[in-house]
Amino acid sequence: MPKHFLMCRPEFFAVEYSINPWMRPEAGASRDVAVLQWEGLKAAYEELGHRVSLIDPIDGLPDMVFAANGALVVDGRVYGARFAYPQRGPEGPAYLRWFAARGYPVHEPRHVNEGEGDFLALDEVVLAGTGFRTDVRAHQESQEVLGRPVISLTLVDPRFYHLDTALFPLDGRNVAYYPQAFSLGSQEVLRRMFPDAVLATAEDAEVLGLNAVSDGTHVVMNAEASTLQLEIKRRGYEVIPVDLSELRKAGGGPKCCTLEIRGNK
Ligand code: ARG
Repeated sequence: MPKHFLMCRPEFFAVEYSINPWMRPEAGASRDVAVLQWEGLKAAYEELGHRVSLIDPIDGLPDMVFAANGALVVDGRVYGARFAYPQRGPEGPAYLRWFAARGYPVHEPRHVNEGEGDFLALDEVVLAGTGFRTDVRAHQESQEVLGRPVISLTLVDPRFYHLDTALFPLDGRNVAYYPQAFSLGSQEVLRRMFPDAVLATAEDAEVLGLNAVSDGTHVVMNAEASTLQLEIKRRGYEVIPVDLSELRKAGGGPKCCTLEIRGNK
């Protein structure tokens, strides 16, 4: 089943401020390298037959390339983002305008949440992260807006500040994750819900290997996550390795650059 993704070219990408432990403004990052790597990711999706739509990047918003944070879209309904840090504040309304202009019913959020950074939709439930960015009240708000049960999970390691840095859906029913990124109670919830999950090592998590995108057959993932790739292949998936090392300097990987539009538009 082809998917529909929204992406944002890293035209104005830079590491100018630090809002997560990956970001070191003094070390800098290359916009040109980021653009090349991002083009590689976009091409990988298109080669797999997925549809990619684009939102215009905005000067002064260096993190706007991380489209996953722009919203959560389920059944064609759009639950907007409200960013935790002012540096990214204007991105929320920008993504909502993109959807509104295309006729999607949009919901402006009351509570802080960073879209698919902290919300991952499965077939029957939505997994939702909290602890660093998304307010747990947004979990309830999104459940009311989308009519899907939301399962709250608490993140405890600042390197894995968004749910999508520590867990990704392999398909609509199973996930891969790094247990130590979660509180003990949330680890227990994950074990109970996903007895067959793929568990990632610290080495794989530390290269943002869990910031991956699966279409149920292919898994697009950071090339450096070698052990995780082997395990994913062993489970019967085809791994599509990508190099997004420049974007990792801002704390992002393939999934961060990708907002899935679920629904019938
Ligand atoms: N520099 C961005 C931030 O800290 C990176 C966002 C990564 N996005 C994601 N979906 N994890 O907000």
